[in-house]
Amino acid sequence: MARLEGVVADPKETIMRYRVIQWATGSMGKACLRAVTNHPDLDLVGVRVYAKSKEGMDAGDIARCGPTGVKATSRMDEILALDADVVLHCPRIQPPYTHHNQDICRLLASGKNVISINGHVYPPYWGPEYTQEINEACAKGGATLFGTGLNPGFITERITMAATGLCTRIDHIRVSESVNCTTVPNPDYVFDVLGFGANPGEVDLNESSWPPAELMTGMYSEVVAQLVDRLGLHLDRVEPDHEVLLATKNLHIAAGRIKKGTVCATHWQWHGIVNGKRFFTLSIRWTMEDAHLTETDNSLWKVTICGIPGIEIVMNLKPPKNTAYKSAAEQFAVAGSVINSIPEVCAAPPGTMRIPAFAPYLSRFRE
Ligand SMILES: NC(=O)c1ccc[n+]([C@@H]2O[C@H](COP(=O)([O-])OP(=O)(O)OC[C@H]3O[C@@H](n4cnc5c(N)ncnc54)[C@H](OP(=O)(O)O)[C@@H]3O)[C@@H](O)[C@H]2O)c1
Repeated sequence: MARLEGVVADPKETIMRYRVIQWATGSMGKACLRAVTNHPDLDLVGVRVYAKSKEGMDAGDIARCGPTGVKATSRMDEILALDADVVLHCPRIQPPYTHHNQDICRLLASGKNVISINGHVYPPYWGPEYTQEINEACAKGGATLFGTGLNPGFITERITMAATGLCTRIDHIRVSESVNCTTVPNPDYVFDVLGFGANPGEVDLNESSWPPAELMTGMYSEVVAQLVDRLGLHLDRVEPDHEVLLATKNLHIAAGRIKKGTVCATHWQWHGIVNGKRFFTLSIRWTMEDAHLTETDNSLWKVTICGIPGIEIVMNLKPPKNTAYKSAAEQFAVAGSVINSIPEVCAAPPGTMRIPAFAPYLSRFRE
């Protein structure tokens, strides 16, 4: 079968085996780890943990999926010394957005492809000075950096991008996500990284010096930029337009307590400005209190393309039934997006890799 120019060769044409390192074993990392150990084409060769309590544990005991013979380590030198094709990089994201770059570059330079769920969907957005270190590491190790996941990684990069291919005119694209975060368990992540429970006088989501704002803007600017760029348009800038909503009462959530009057919902919005106008809006509502949700917020994602034709896509992930593990739909979905990309990432040329798009909207239509 003839191959399409510019499309990565289909590695699924021949079944290959891949040696995999799982980096971090939180809720997403464990879902990936189980998917690796259960996959006939993947060999788990290493596990990197942060928690001292997990050091030396068998990966299977961490993920409750039966013995693997692979012991977890917190030591970077041990991970670098492993012979592996790919690292599934799932640590907790930390401000600043570049927090994990040094580790990622060392992994790449050691010859391991890296699949991250913490952004990196379009590093070129930041310019040559930013990408130089990453590109040098990729070149040294002959390796590829790929960012995937759900958002970032899927709803804009794959679903929205594919939908644009039906349009002969696009005036505006909106991607909105709405998540009830009450069951997110980790207090460090919920309060320090995402900014819940903060005093409203002390936070300004639009002020990039506030660490959570810098982090979110870092990660999601790349999502905005890659879509605009893929459609052949020039991005003037990414414009932040965020707001916080305050708890109407004391809240008890899985991660702890949110006091009345402190931040209980964040509505992040970034507009991609093209020719001086808002062309793309990425809206993310994460909330701890239903009082702030309107009826239309209930779906996980909604994509609205105003154009010819207009398009609306509503997408939800359904809770899994009859599975061996209690992971939520999002955890299975993140693992799916990561594991399914391994053959493509391992076959890609060295450098940063963008999610391939087939025949998206060509911005050069005339009416
Ligand atoms: N792209 C997407 O769609 C998507 C979706 C969901 C989540 N994510 C991202 O994935 C990341 C992990 O999510 P999660 O739900 O698995 O989080 P989690 O359950 O809180 O687990 C994060 C893990 O990170 C490790 N960790 C601990 N301290 C750390 C530190 N100081 N620096 C870095 N890592 C540390 C720990 O690994 P050990 O337990 O092994 O020590 C911890 O279990 C989050 O940052 C989130 O933003 C992305």
